[in-house]
Amino acid sequence: MRAIVCHEFKSYTDHKVETIEAPALKPGHVRIAVEAAGVNFPDILMTEGKYQIKPPFPFVPGAECAGVITELADDVPYLKVGDRVGTMVMNGAFATEVVAPMMVTWPLGDMPFDVAAGLALVYGTSYYALKQRAQLKAGETLLVLGAAGGVGLAAVELGKAMGATVIAAASTAEKLAVCREHGADHLINYSEEDLKSRVKELGGADVIYDPVGDKFAEPAMRTLKWYGRYMVIGFAGGEIPKIPLNLALLKSIDIRGVFWGTWTMKDPKGHRENMGEIMEMVRSGTIKPRISGHYPLDDFVEAFDELANRRAMGKVILTMT
Ligand SMILES: NC(=O)c1ccc[n+]([C@@H]2O[C@H](COP(=O)([O-])OP(=O)(O)OC[C@H]3O[C@@H](n4cnc5c(N)ncnc54)[C@H](OP(=O)(O)O)[C@@H]3O)[C@@H](O)[C@H]2O)c1
Repeated sequence: MRAIVCHEFKSYTDHKVETIEAPALKPGHVRIAVEAAGVNFPDILMTEGKYQIKPPFPFVPGAECAGVITELADDVPYLKVGDRVGTMVMNGAFATEVVAPMMVTWPLGDMPFDVAAGLALVYGTSYYALKQRAQLKAGETLLVLGAAGGVGLAAVELGKAMGATVIAAASTAEKLAVCREHGADHLINYSEEDLKSRVKELGGADVIYDPVGDKFAEPAMRTLKWYGRYMVIGFAGGEIPKIPLNLALLKSIDIRGVFWGTWTMKDPKGHRENMGEIMEMVRSGTIKPRISGHYPLDDFVEAFDELANRRAMGKVILTMT
């Protein structure tokens, strides 16, 4: 099979696509001929050794993909060869074949491979953050930072679907136009406008969804209302912010961490329920996954560049055929 192979941690631009032996099938697993894989910011961090999990070498990066089952273990009861499926793996998705646990492999029906390949991680993270962690209620105001990125745009759509007023904050007018198309009520260009004063003019936020961190975290937190909830999603901006804790005290604010991948393992039932609800929202058109760009596996550096250089608006997809 062909795959991106990491033999050491280094810049993603220095990794290569190689021809290697396909992984062996294991009990409880299925083999999938991959059609498309979703690229996420953590994939870049993983290949460069900057992610909180560091797999042993050599490893194939990539956390989510979709394709067709070509082989399955004897103990897999409810899937069959030829099924169109999506799956989530810790690593291994940036390859023409993947061996995935049946527990995290789901039938796609007629959903296109590229849409399915980029669905689980961004909507899964954002739904867990807004539903289980933030307990966002209809009528509340949600502020989303990095709102046109992968998890950000998913949070905008899910926030609207949950009945919130959504303030989208992003760095360009083009990105904000995409947020508007996906339901945002108010738009803030934080490259040009003062984030804190603009959110305060809009009445403040009950919940903040922050995948950016860095210099926007503190001004954003200062806009929270009494009993506000701050969701720590990630640090795409670079720096992990150091927040003065008096901000939490002054308005009885909760700062809540969100680590979706670990939660899916600790609460598989809750995760399955969330994914079922997300699939239903896609089928009914309540949420409309946006694809920023498609790239063949061999052009993965260009695909990763879209995220690293802050150009992605929605999902970046690698195609294998
Ligand atoms: N906690 C979890 O369970 C979980 C799960 C998935 C992802 N994450 C994290 O969420 C973050 C976003 O992931 P993603 O896949 O949605 O990435 P993405 O599509 O690249 O979105 C990241 C956004 O961050 C903003 N940004 C600000 N400074 C940036 C910089 N220097 N480089 C790149 N982006 C910058 C960009 O928006 P503007 O240009 O508008 O500022 C961009 O749209 C990452 O930190 C990732 O590790 C966490």
